[in-house]
Amino acid sequence: MSNSVLASAEINKDENVIWHQHQVTKSERATLKNQQPVVLWFTGLSGAGKSTVAGALETELTQRGYHTYLLDGDNVRHGLCRDLGFSKQDRRENIRRVGELTKLMADAGLIVLSAFISPHREERSLVRELLPQGEFLEVFVNASLAVCEARDPKGLYKKARAGEINNFTGIDSEYEQPVEPEIHLNADVYEVSELVKQCIQVLTERSIIR
Ligand code: ADX
Repeated sequence: MSNSVLASAEINKDENVIWHQHQVTKSERATLKNQQPVVLWFTGLSGAGKSTVAGALETELTQRGYHTYLLDGDNVRHGLCRDLGFSKQDRRENIRRVGELTKLMADAGLIVLSAFISPHREERSLVRELLPQGEFLEVFVNASLAVCEARDPKGLYKKARAGEINNFTGIDSEYEQPVEPEIHLNADVYEVSELVKQCIQVLTERSIIR
């Protein structure tokens, strides 16, 4: 398809695709689950522990009777985002798609745990803006590059240092730390169980969980 045909298809879509308001509401779906939807957006370097902490927190929430879903960067890149790589543009599209997916899951009444490097402040704030005030909690899983590289759970830092992988976050691709995350986890120092406790404490203080 030529660029001009594509461009006009985009314009017609905006004009001719009209939002359908369905009967069952987000609030009804959440009430039925006896919970308040929220998004916990885990960001940090590869190997910082985002998926591990999100997984342990999901287990704790499930045991307490909450309905959850965990979206994980490595897993989503096997399906929905399998066509995307790690250039700045592809990461931007990755976060746009998973941001929209996260929003739909919160709309379904779920507590959503999203674990993506999401290295750019701009993309993270675009996802925040998709959600109502107070429904997006940024969780900074803060582990230093030295610690992540020493852990190297998937052997990817070694490959990146050897020049076998390009655009690797922290090596030859930037990571912009959150400025004011709702939850700041010091993953260099604390055990996973302690980090889960810190998340539970914030969710309780904010009256998101009982
Ligand atoms: S993001 O930057 O677009 O948010 P995402 O969280 O989906 O990244 O995927 C990160 C995972 O992909 C890492 O945990 C790692 O296992 C794998 N990976 C493969 N190549 C790279 C790379 N160049 N940079 C970072 N992670 C990579």
